[in-house]
Amino acid sequence: MSRENNSNYLVIALSSGKLFKPSIQLFEGIGINLRGGREINRKLTFYDQREDIKFIITRPKDNPTYVECGASDIGIVGEDVLLEEKKDVYRLLDLKFGKCKMVVAVPEEKKQEKYYKNNGHRLRVATKYPRIAGEYFKKKGIYVELIKLYGSVELAPQVGLADMIVDIVSTGRTLKENGLIIIDEIIPLSAQLIVNRISYKTKHKKIARLLQGIKKFVSSESDKIAKW
Ligand code: PRP
Repeated sequence: MSRENNSNYLVIALSSGKLFKPSIQLFEGIGINLRGGREINRKLTFYDQREDIKFIITRPKDNPTYVECGASDIGIVGEDVLLEEKKDVYRLLDLKFGKCKMVVAVPEEKKQEKYYKNNGHRLRVATKYPRIAGEYFKKKGIYVELIKLYGSVELAPQVGLADMIVDIVSTGRTLKENGLIIIDEIIPLSAQLIVNRISYKTKHKKIARLLQGIKKFVSSESDKIAKW
């Protein structure tokens, strides 16, 4: 079988980072043996034992781009990325792991401040998610200055870069250790299974079979998948 031609395989894009381990557990849970999947380090493609699925590992934010353009048929991606990147892909299934929420958080010592009242200055909001944060404040009719950061957003209010942050929270540990508290919850989030629109038609049989197995596993055993 030629490895150059993606049409021979089902290509599945896994997100690196927090969703990677539970994604591997999911595929092992439905009987797909990943050759060396757990030892993956810097290699970005690998195969299942029968060699009819090719797995690729993407940065979380890039995952829907691979699926949208058909470089991958299927993707496992955080809902935060889907909402922020707004790529043209089908959402197939909520995988129920990687649960977290998008929140607004402020320094604990300032929790009494009436942030959303017009107090004369424009709120500065640090976030990795300018689209989600922008839509949230727009709906509230609050004019804010969005400060786009690429990580460690919790630092911004501590050093005077921002008044508040919009970010994802899972265990709440990072907020706590940085003296921040939640003042509003924007949306609950979890890992999602996405598919390329054309692949869904051209590889329908393969995808439907895989989806059936995943659905069964998610509904009965999702609690066994590692929490992140
Ligand atoms: C995410 C998020 C928070 C943290 C929340 O960051 O942006 O910082 O995880 O997790 P917790 O509630 O369990 O503490 P990530 O670890 O992806 O790193 P980054 O900020 O560098 O992107």
